[in-house]
Amino acid sequence: MTRSCMKIKDAIQNNPLCRHHDTCDDLHRVVITSEQIRQTIQVLTRQIQDAYAKHTSVVILFLLKGAKQFAGDLEDSLGEGKFEFVPAQASSYRGGTHSTGEVEINSHDMQDITGQSVLILDDMYDSGLTLKRVKAHLETKGAADVKTCVMFEKECHHTHEVAPDFVGLPVPNEFLVGYGLDYQEQYRELRCVGTLKPDIIASKFHHENIQSVS
Ligand code: IMP
Ligand code: MG
Repeated sequence: MTRSCMKIKDAIQNNPLCRHHDTCDDLHRVVITSEQIRQTIQVLTRQIQDAYAKHTSVVILFLLKGAKQFAGDLEDSLGEGKFEFVPAQASSYRGGTHSTGEVEINSHDMQDITGQSVLILDDMYDSGLTLKRVKAHLETKGAADVKTCVMFEKECHHTHEVAPDFVGLPVPNEFLVGYGLDYQEQYRELRCVGTLKPDIIASKFHHENIQSVS
């Protein structure tokens, strides 16, 4: 396993495109505030520390790009020690507002995980397909123990039931942006989570369609 010297948050902050706003005009309604997120990180930190109290090393595999903000905060909160944060690419939305139903998994930083305890970190538990696929992938690669942790869980029927071991906050079954969740690669850097104004989705959709036919 390779350990990157740069912390996740430093990498986010070095990116000139990242703006850490508490809210934004494109939001219709704030569903989760930045303060709720801050408190939830503290609760999850304690739960994860307790669950892995007897472990000497744990790989925290965070799914790009949605879990980057979450992983950065958790890395700060867990502190230096036995937790190694490793990024992996697993995508099912591909920029839109609905899951494509397929999940692609790719991690350049992940080498040998045979016998390792792995905690998968994702932003959202929606249908459950992403966690199910990534968990199965790690088990076939020889991980000794695979647990899952999500920041948000949609209040909906999870078609691919893999109840996460750690859940931050329940959220309504609506399309949300902020704290890692994007709409067409935007809004990930918001420190809160909310729904978008309908005209924002409509205008972006319209703009995209015009571009694709011109
Ligand atoms: P699942 O595979 O259906 O559980 O979907 C989980 C993935 O879909 C998460 O990693 C999110 O990145 C993405 N996702 C689910 N709900 C939303 C949303 O409301 N906004 C943006 N992305 C979402
Ligand atoms: Mg995701």
